[in-house]
Amino acid sequence: MKSVYMDNNATTMIAEEVLSAMNRVSHLFGNPSSMHACGREASKAVEHARRQVAELIGAGEDEIIFTSGGTESDNTVFSLARELIDSGSPRNRIVTSVIEHPAIIETCKYLGTKGYKIDFAPVDRTGKVDLGQLQNLIDDDVLLVSIMMGNNETGTIQDIEAISAMAKSNGALFHTDAVQAIGKLFIDVHALNIDYLSLSAHKFYGPKGVGALYVRKGAPFETYVKGGHQEEGRRAGTYNTQSIVGLGEAARLASESLEEERTKLWAMRERLREGILTSIPNVTVNGHPSDCLPGTLNVSFSSAEGESILLMLDLNGIAVSTGSACATGSLEPSYVLLASGLDIELAHGSIRFSLGRYNTFEDVDYVLETLPPIIKRLRGISTR
Ligand SMILES: Cc1ncc(COP(=O)(O)O)c(C=O)c1O
Repeated sequence: MKSVYMDNNATTMIAEEVLSAMNRVSHLFGNPSSMHACGREASKAVEHARRQVAELIGAGEDEIIFTSGGTESDNTVFSLARELIDSGSPRNRIVTSVIEHPAIIETCKYLGTKGYKIDFAPVDRTGKVDLGQLQNLIDDDVLLVSIMMGNNETGTIQDIEAISAMAKSNGALFHTDAVQAIGKLFIDVHALNIDYLSLSAHKFYGPKGVGALYVRKGAPFETYVKGGHQEEGRRAGTYNTQSIVGLGEAARLASESLEEERTKLWAMRERLREGILTSIPNVTVNGHPSDCLPGTLNVSFSSAEGESILLMLDLNGIAVSTGSACATGSLEPSYVLLASGLDIELAHGSIRFSLGRYNTFEDVDYVLETLPPIIKRLRGISTR
């Protein structure tokens, strides 16, 4: 049976080049913080990776802090906001959006229970943050505005330049979770006037459990993971040399192939979208029609459960995702789709195809052959 992986927003396969780069440093067991030759050699590899990550987003090397991934990078920013508020900052409100990743939404809900003031900006039908409503939420008591660059479920890309300008003109700090956008969009943190940016290696063909936080030079910072003096006291913990080297190589590959990859991903995504719309009736395409991550296609099928579609595709060797919170066992429909105004039935029938570097047009054609009979069968037995 053919095997097609279209769940690249969940995680990606490690690139061969990344594995080779990691293997090349497998002998560098020295602690990069040690002063002897063994340590210095490992440290050289870590610093090389830092340059590669910095180059990908137009940052300075000293603006990159290695972390354990997107979740830690996001939490670092909210923890620093909390510390600034606790230390008496006259700005004591945080503004984010209703469609952020749980790494942010759940952190904000937690902060809310502790009495911190958090506002969630709404989104429109395409999943775009409503700029008028966001503007209304940003006043001179706002410390931090945090809006993601590209959504993991729908792929909708936010107007980061306008949003960061809005935050900065009101004197607020601006953070963006760019975990899904990295390697797919051209990003220049300085041109976009971003103070903090989160990224994660495993979303762009690097290893799991490693990521980075960009912190603009001069932006306020408080250490989240406390302990040793690594990262100039900004993030404690012995360096994971091999994984950091993997992140660096993934960043180098992304810089090298960004434009070409983006074009191919969009072409495959469009073939998939058009194929689904012509072969299956009553389909809704979710997210923004053009401001969308190039490999992401989120569609809802009326009278068909997302989980059933997922399982039947899986039986045919195709890996995709639904927006439901299956992990919790609750099968709640996607909060992202509901926040975008999709009705609950369609939210239940949503499937996310997320294409990546290793997908081919043949993969798309295989999905287009396999999917229509599955939907027909499920609709035939549907009671809705
Ligand atoms: C938008 C977004 N932010 C943060 C994360 C969390 O990243 P990590 O898995 O590296 O903790 C993810 C992962 O799914 C994500 O999609």
